[in-house]
Amino acid sequence: MKNFTQTKSHAELVALASSAPSLRDYLQAEHRQCDLTIAAKFMSIDFSRQRLDRHILNLLNNSLIDVGFNEWRNRYFAGDKINKTENRAVLHTAQRVGADASIIIDGVDIVPNIIAERNTMLACAEFIRTDRSIKNVIAIGIGGSDLGPRFIYDAFLGDVSGPQVHFVSNVDGLDLARALKKCEPDNTIIIIASKTFTTVETMLNAKSARTWMNDKTDRFYAVTANPKVAHAWGVATDKIFPFSESVGGRFSVWSSIGMCLAIAFGADFYRDLLSGAHDADEDFKSKPYDQNPAILMALCGVWNRNYLGYQNHLMAPYDVRLRLIAKYVQQMDMESNGKSVDREGQRVNYKTAPHIYGEAGTDCQHSYMQLVHQGTDILPIDFFGIEAPSHNLDSDHHKILLANLRAQAKSLAFGQTIDEAKQDPFRVFEGNRPSTIFMLKTLTPRSLGYLIAIYEHKIFTQGVFWNLNSYDQPGVELGKVMATEEMMA
Ligand code: F6P
Repeated sequence: MKNFTQTKSHAELVALASSAPSLRDYLQAEHRQCDLTIAAKFMSIDFSRQRLDRHILNLLNNSLIDVGFNEWRNRYFAGDKINKTENRAVLHTAQRVGADASIIIDGVDIVPNIIAERNTMLACAEFIRTDRSIKNVIAIGIGGSDLGPRFIYDAFLGDVSGPQVHFVSNVDGLDLARALKKCEPDNTIIIIASKTFTTVETMLNAKSARTWMNDKTDRFYAVTANPKVAHAWGVATDKIFPFSESVGGRFSVWSSIGMCLAIAFGADFYRDLLSGAHDADEDFKSKPYDQNPAILMALCGVWNRNYLGYQNHLMAPYDVRLRLIAKYVQQMDMESNGKSVDREGQRVNYKTAPHIYGEAGTDCQHSYMQLVHQGTDILPIDFFGIEAPSHNLDSDHHKILLANLRAQAKSLAFGQTIDEAKQDPFRVFEGNRPSTIFMLKTLTPRSLGYLIAIYEHKIFTQGVFWNLNSYDQPGVELGKVMATEEMMA
């Protein structure tokens, strides 16, 4: 299997990178913004401030085809076992198909079971919502069993129509103690969210929560790929909502791991979330590369990482509703492609996943943006805006918010010369710092589902460039083993 350095376009791309025009030059072109902005579902995505042009994108796409992208994408959706080290398919996309779909794995159509699991979980969530005595849900989980539900719950915090959800992830007892302080055993249920049902942090938190609940295990629910262990732990069979082991933890919000969202917002909300992600799946499969959000995101990502040599990738949502997006994508991206050995077990001789972080704007302008503007490193950044505000306060709030988003992207691109800085060296801005602007029309479960899924597919695509297995995570195992040894010491 090939990686991007073994493709025909590679040498030309290396040469182009060393002579890439500045963004000032690129942005002088009259139709550039229009030419490099795509109208995706629910949003526009403006790539015009990336340091590339159509020719470079074309070469990058040729490279992608050359490493077998189309075959890999077919296998991804068909349920082939592309997660080779764990001998598993990668089935998060299957979690959001409709009942009319069919995905055959080892001779069995897995869709009926997925639909049945989904409907059973949703029916229970709706039943819980009718029980007025339940005011609180404590959702205990970590990593992919926490970050997705936590991000989406926070994004729609103002729309909670069911019990409040309190997320607990850290083994530091204070995390659980703070949640318990807001709840009463009689008005609270506890969801143990754990694909393996063995994660030390989650199981200790669950044990302490059971003590707090005076051992009333009928108040516990489990969402897991390991129902037998959940039942042995003490959760009643009709309160265990399983999902397939082939759904990766960091991609599992579309499975019963998302149950707390259905309880907080209702089954329709959850179905809309799935529907938005499914729309992104269909676009990823069908749209030509130059109209395909996930592919363009990946081409920019590889160009910045491997040809322009940028180490980081920032995410700056200019909307409080999306403030947790970087934390969510951090695990999704860095746990998938933060690797240095390829599918064949050979050490790679090129860079792989970038370092992902970010904070909401305009807060970031009062924290890390000084470095982004005038630091010695260049950090590509994804900006997110939502045209429709989520409040009815003075319209100046939203106008100033989005004006700052646009100003940051523009000043990063254009910078400020010594002349424009009136010969003041401290106010020279190198500029030429790339960014992409994602502008959503409104934030709905569907538009958020779509946004999350295009990042999933961007990560898949970059993994194909780098010839990586994006779906195991051996790097987290050694620490767990050593922690156990430390505890025994
Ligand atoms: O971080 C390692 C990891 O295995 C993640 O992939 C996973 O999301 C998290 O731990 C929690 O695992 P589980 O859902 O099995 O408790």
